[in-house]
Amino acid sequence: MMNKTQIIAHRGYRAVAPENTLPAFEAALAYQPDMLEMDVHRTKDGHLVVIHDEKVDRTTNGTGFVKDMTLAEIKSLDAGSYKEPKMIGVTIPTFDEFLAFLRTQNFEQTLMLEIKTDHVAYPGIEKEILDKVDAYQPKYHVLYQSFNLNSLKIVRKLQPNADIAALVYWATPIVYWLKWRGVFDYIHSDIRVLKNKPNIFWRPNVHMRTWTVDNEADMRRIFKAGLRGIITNQVALATKIRQEIQGDEHD
Ligand code: G3P
Ligand code: CA
Repeated sequence: MMNKTQIIAHRGYRAVAPENTLPAFEAALAYQPDMLEMDVHRTKDGHLVVIHDEKVDRTTNGTGFVKDMTLAEIKSLDAGSYKEPKMIGVTIPTFDEFLAFLRTQNFEQTLMLEIKTDHVAYPGIEKEILDKVDAYQPKYHVLYQSFNLNSLKIVRKLQPNADIAALVYWATPIVYWLKWRGVFDYIHSDIRVLKNKPNIFWRPNVHMRTWTVDNEADMRRIFKAGLRGIITNQVALATKIRQEIQGDEHD
């Protein structure tokens, strides 16, 4: 018997609400996904904030790099109306606000936290994130992921028992070797590459999750193969298809 494939809500439920905002996380929680995924950057004055891009341009009414803006500047931006006019007034959450939100929600699933150090260097951000999480004494589990191998190594050194995943486009032999060495525990591979490699759909593929799976045919294939998890923008669809294929017979 295989385990159920985990459903991970990518940047909250970004198909229905502005990504990486509290309304998007709240919308995702209504479906009780196995994990919430989100991204962390740092402002010019040292505050951790929840946003995907290095720049605020795509998801707010502002322009510029997060690293060049103060928290006050970040908080003055509207991060909702680009998605939906009625969402005007939604702001980029600080990491503190996000963690406090999880507490108010009695969150008990897993937080998939991406350390966004793949394009901008934020020296010391790994320790700041781990310290902040520890300060909240979460009841839930945290899984750290990054495209930046160095960030993963730092997390492993700071917290040897942490759950860590490498974000990759495709799991090369070096990626498997690093996993075997214990640098990380899981491999999170791009579905655009993964779906062209049928051999990866070995059952059970206990260490592999894939992003970003929004297509129903891909979902069906993955749920049938029993991959560890899918990271998706389409939380409702994934929940429905998983129930159809994996039902309640799996743990
Ligand atoms: O969780 C996987 C996925 O979030 C990685 O890509 O660019 O959406 O952060 P990205
Ligand atoms: Ca991410």
